[in-house]
Amino acid sequence: MTADPLDITSVQEADLDAVTALVKVLQWPHRREDIALFMRLGTGRVAKDAAGTLLGVALWWGFEPAAARLGLVMVSPDVQRRGIGRRLVEQVLADSAGRSMRLLATEAGKPLYDTLGFVAVGACRQYQGIYAGEPEDDAGIRAARSEDLATITALDTTAFGAGRAATLRVLMAAGRTAVLEDGAGVAGYAIERDFGRGTVVGPIVATHDADAIRLFKALARPGFVRVDTPVGSDRFPAHLVAQGLAAAGADSLVMVRGTWPAPAAGARIFALSSHALG
Ligand SMILES: CC(C)(COP(=O)(O)OP(=O)(O)OC[C@H]1O[C@@H](n2cnc3c(N)ncnc32)[C@H](O)[C@@H]1OP(=O)(O)O)[C@@H](O)C(=O)NCCC(=O)NCCS
Repeated sequence: MTADPLDITSVQEADLDAVTALVKVLQWPHRREDIALFMRLGTGRVAKDAAGTLLGVALWWGFEPAAARLGLVMVSPDVQRRGIGRRLVEQVLADSAGRSMRLLATEAGKPLYDTLGFVAVGACRQYQGIYAGEPEDDAGIRAARSEDLATITALDTTAFGAGRAATLRVLMAAGRTAVLEDGAGVAGYAIERDFGRGTVVGPIVATHDADAIRLFKALARPGFVRVDTPVGSDRFPAHLVAQGLAAAGADSLVMVRGTWPAPAAGARIFALSSHALG
């Protein structure tokens, strides 16, 4: 009997450089620090050959009480189609057993997720481009303070479906957060941070397109801006296009395995923090 030449182990901080190198090979935009943030917030598996060379990775992030997201699923191009992606994802599903799992699937990833019980529930469109505007003052929008975290998390949970305070705390520390207040309190929030080729505006959580647009205008800085927005609303993406951003690449499928906690009525997600974290 021959030993299994593939080692599927838990991802470690020491894998960061190899994961970053694989991201570059696949021409994904993430910087080393973007991947470090993902790894700090989550866990996952790497596939290595007998010499310890990284061949693939799959990360996941758990959210209270029973939800998780899967992301950064990559296999080195020279060893794709040999079952490595399937083994990585199957292992992550075993590691996260009991949780509903959500992800954004590329065209290449979809056949794998189809066979593992994921179903498509929507789509996400990436807008990007050079933004010429400056952050705009808005009397109803202010910079978030650290004591806003609980309120922001509560609002986010109604839109996301599961509590993700730890993720939001790290994203808020990494970027700039704005809260939109109406007469009744905080009615929306957004975070902008450095990511990939420039900056990303997301999450944006609001009740109406008009408020999502106000939050975008309050935070977006001139330069390369990316926004990942669930397909469904019209006015918010139309505003992005009017500002010089354009849809990039094919839409990604939103896929879910198990029963994702139902969001409450009211605020919804107009932009994701990233494909990985949602
Ligand atoms: C998607 C990806 C991770 C799959 O990893 P992999 O090791 O090549 O996949 P596997 O060999 O385990 O194949 C899994 C299944 O997907 C199918 N599949 C894999 N790549 C495919 C492709 N490019 N097109 C169509 N089907 C594909 C295979 O038929 C296979 O099914 P089978 O086991 O019944 O034969 C890999 O192709 C990759 O890194 N792609 C680029 C990055 C990416 O798109 N990641 C997905 C993010 S959601």
